[in-house]
Amino acid sequence: MSGVFVVGTDTGVGKSLVAAALLHRLGERHARVVGMKPVAAGASRDDAGAWSNEDVLTLQAASTADAPAALRNPYLLNAAVSPHIAALRDGVVIDMAHTVSCAAALQSQADVVVVEGAGGFRVPLGHTLDGADLAVALRLPLVLVVGLKLGCLNHALLTIESIAARGLRLAGWVANRIDPQMPEQQANIELLERRIAAPCLGDIPHRLPPDARVAASRLHLPPGFPA
Ligand SMILES: Nc1ncnc2c1ncn2[C@@H]1O[C@H](COP(=O)(O)OP(=O)(O)O)[C@@H](O)[C@H]1O
Ligand SMILES: [Mg+2]
Repeated sequence: MSGVFVVGTDTGVGKSLVAAALLHRLGERHARVVGMKPVAAGASRDDAGAWSNEDVLTLQAASTADAPAALRNPYLLNAAVSPHIAALRDGVVIDMAHTVSCAAALQSQADVVVVEGAGGFRVPLGHTLDGADLAVALRLPLVLVVGLKLGCLNHALLTIESIAARGLRLAGWVANRIDPQMPEQQANIELLERRIAAPCLGDIPHRLPPDARVAASRLHLPPGFPA
């Protein structure tokens, strides 16, 4: 399966922005790219009045391959809370085999699938499952989005350790400057460059409103990425 799984140091760090940016960049190399959000917590009405989720719509807007919402977002949970709680409230059990089969179906309809995780890497998805189990099940190389804010170095190093503990491949990481007030941003990036063996794929400036095409122009993807 050709694709990447975009994970974050936390929720709200720019996974959706980076996933959309990756879709734009990969769309320059491939005819059909599609975004997938396996588990979305927080449903709202889209422009047509149908229930959807902001991240799902963001990924769809950056996709060039059309695919059914049931594949692009197999689990749409109502409440914008931890997915294991939202699923419990909705009476839904997140099933890994179903999620993987949706990803495989999308793969057959596109050249590359960019999958966005929920929350941080170990976000609980059910009674025992969490985001790391999803990463293992999908068997895709990972891209870690580091939202630059105080505490992000610890979060980034813990996430790298957890990725390695699962035997997963980190294809690269992206620094996203989500907090313009954060001091020593460059020194933080330099520490991560020294401590993370995988390449830094981009340094996304703070920009309001954020724009996935502008973010895409800041990504440096190695040839053949994400294979
Ligand atoms: N580089 C950036 N500059 C300004 N705002 C950003 C940037 N990256 C993300 N944001 C904002 O931060 C919030 C979280 O970003 P998002 O991509 O939704 O994160 P995640 O998918 O990890 O939850 C959003 O409101 C988004 O618009
Ligand atoms: Mg998101």
